[in-house]
Amino acid sequence: MISTLLSQLRHGPDGDPTPRLAYGADYNPEQWPREVWEEDIRLMQEAGVNIVSVAIFSWARIQPTENEWDFGWLDEIMDLLHAGGIGVDLATATASPPPWLSTAQPEILPVTASGETLWPGARQHWRPTSPVFREHALRLVRKMAERYANHPALVAWHVSNELGCHNVYDYSDDAARAFRDWLRARYTTLDALNHAWGTAFWSQRYSDWEQILPPRLAASHPNPTQQLDFKRFSSDVLKDHLRAERDVLRELTPGVPVTTNFMVMGNTKGMNYADWAAEIDFVSNDHYVVPGPQDRDELSFSANLVSGIAGGRPWFLMEHSTSAVNWQPINVAKRPGDLARDSLVHVAHGADAVCFFQWRQSAAGAEKYHSAMVPHAGADSELFRAVAGLGQTLKTLAPVAGTEREPARVGIVFDWDSWWASEQDSHPTAQLSYRQEALDWYSALLALGIRADVVTTQTELDRYQVLITPVLHVMPAPLAKELTRYAENGGHLITTYFSGVVDENDHIWLGGYPGALRELLGIRIEEFGPLLDGETADVDLDGVDGAATGTLWTDRISVTDPAVEVLAHYRGGTYADRPAVTRRPTGQGSAAYVSTRLGTDGLTALLPKLLAPAGVHSELPDGARGSVELIVRRSADSRYLFLVNRTDETVPLAGVSGDLLVGRTDDDGTVVLAPRDVAVLRQPAL
Ligand code: GLA
Ligand code: GLA
Repeated sequence: MISTLLSQLRHGPDGDPTPRLAYGADYNPEQWPREVWEEDIRLMQEAGVNIVSVAIFSWARIQPTENEWDFGWLDEIMDLLHAGGIGVDLATATASPPPWLSTAQPEILPVTASGETLWPGARQHWRPTSPVFREHALRLVRKMAERYANHPALVAWHVSNELGCHNVYDYSDDAARAFRDWLRARYTTLDALNHAWGTAFWSQRYSDWEQILPPRLAASHPNPTQQLDFKRFSSDVLKDHLRAERDVLRELTPGVPVTTNFMVMGNTKGMNYADWAAEIDFVSNDHYVVPGPQDRDELSFSANLVSGIAGGRPWFLMEHSTSAVNWQPINVAKRPGDLARDSLVHVAHGADAVCFFQWRQSAAGAEKYHSAMVPHAGADSELFRAVAGLGQTLKTLAPVAGTEREPARVGIVFDWDSWWASEQDSHPTAQLSYRQEALDWYSALLALGIRADVVTTQTELDRYQVLITPVLHVMPAPLAKELTRYAENGGHLITTYFSGVVDENDHIWLGGYPGALRELLGIRIEEFGPLLDGETADVDLDGVDGAATGTLWTDRISVTDPAVEVLAHYRGGTYADRPAVTRRPTGQGSAAYVSTRLGTDGLTALLPKLLAPAGVHSELPDGARGSVELIVRRSADSRYLFLVNRTDETVPLAGVSGDLLVGRTDDDGTVVLAPRDVAVLRQPAL
């Protein structure tokens, strides 16, 4: 079903059967006078744009008052786009409620943990649990679907926009009511809830469901399981909103695929997308680069995780930026080459669409300094020429459309429950960053030129020879069993500090850490040894040149199984001479434990030792390891190798063969990657 819908979408509204990559942007024509629209279409054609997302923030324009509807302008733009050969990913327009609604019904406005109302004046000022909001939103969705059901430009539905971007945590009375319903469904009885939340602690025992509240601003640390459940609930109610809009769309336009744009990027952690993906016909993602030393590794990591969430199937890059954004403290422009490279890394990881926020840079409003495909300078600009150049490149890459990601041999597991729980308050350290730890392992693998897939706990894990589970803190019994089975059946599991410590209720697995994995790892920890800011622990990698430096965390490890090998020791500090990294053989497989934060450099030094038993090596030629990222997509008859220059130096790729679809060669025919450049080669399937 999903692949049929995707191919329908790829072919566009004209029914052209040739597969293609989609290219386009959010298009907000209502910000511009009518005479600009025709120029827009002409420039879109010049740039190779074949899809745009329309009406994302158009509610107030479409429905100017409660009982007035104005579709004329949207009809016209839909017609113009269709005539121009451009498909429309049509938004349901519910993202930002109009002033008439928030004035008449202020009970739709979200409330913070400290009881402050989030007022209108920006966007997304609605409670996910408000029945009033839901009713108005679904009325609009129904009108949109009825009006455009048979419009030839319509190729997909775009539900709302970045659900939860600004309103994921709402502590209102509506939220309190819905939270109680959610808890009743989860626990059935109050006794079960009292047990799960550990309410024997601090006199928190509930004797009536009505006493339960969201974790509003409290005098001290709110109950941790209440906090964790509120995070699960908040993700679920937004998912429920997505389903409600989707159901209307499926009822009225059953043949049109439905998506919503996820935000797998940086520290956006409120929505458990692994759990949302099955609700839509294809996965879409928005990604913005936040400048920093690992910024492009983070881009690759995010795109890779989106592919994991999409089950390896193609997905849509719904938004990224042509250059600077407006919402960081300092908004730097992209360098020449970044636009194409960033886009192609998403394609390499499975994106069948490259879209931007937005088509034409706004002249007014909060995002006027945010880059776009057509900048303030106009089409006679370097930026627009780069945009049109990318359009050409994507045409060349049309055969890649519809192909899947070729699985790597190493998987990195990313889990929302562990992300949420491991970063809660009143823990051994407040400095732990779940995503950063996962990213460091990913960066280290990139530095070694080894491909890895970022996957979720929903993924079939057996396909990986090596499974890295950084800070897999929440370990329900079935997951511990699954990982044990994985290692006993020949898989090589690598896990880290603070993994396996609690169950799904955030209760400690007793008897010594890491409770649920103690036997599998053959170690026991009686006390954690978190490090102060600036404090380090030198680690001797036993046989590997140079030492690594641990930060953030250490563990006082006792080895309980004599078969355990100690792969690295603490050199100094409180735990001097004790194990820092261990590995227990499990028949053909193994289970390793890394007890400190080694960072990208330390992990790059350690990883070859950890990967050796699995026989995993780089597929890149010697000179390219570390400087080049390799990503592979495949079809029944072809493999597409994407080779991305991670550096600012020119890198020759001797020994890499195939038909060169994108890129250049030197005089001897060797593929050469200019700084930040990408080459794409086609090889026959393996
Ligand atoms: C998000 C939103 C867009 C726009 C961009 C700016 O992705 O969906 O509407 O605000 O951010 O980066
Ligand atoms: C105070 C409180 C105790 C406990 C400790 C923890 O002393 O009285 O209940 O919370 O702090 O340090």
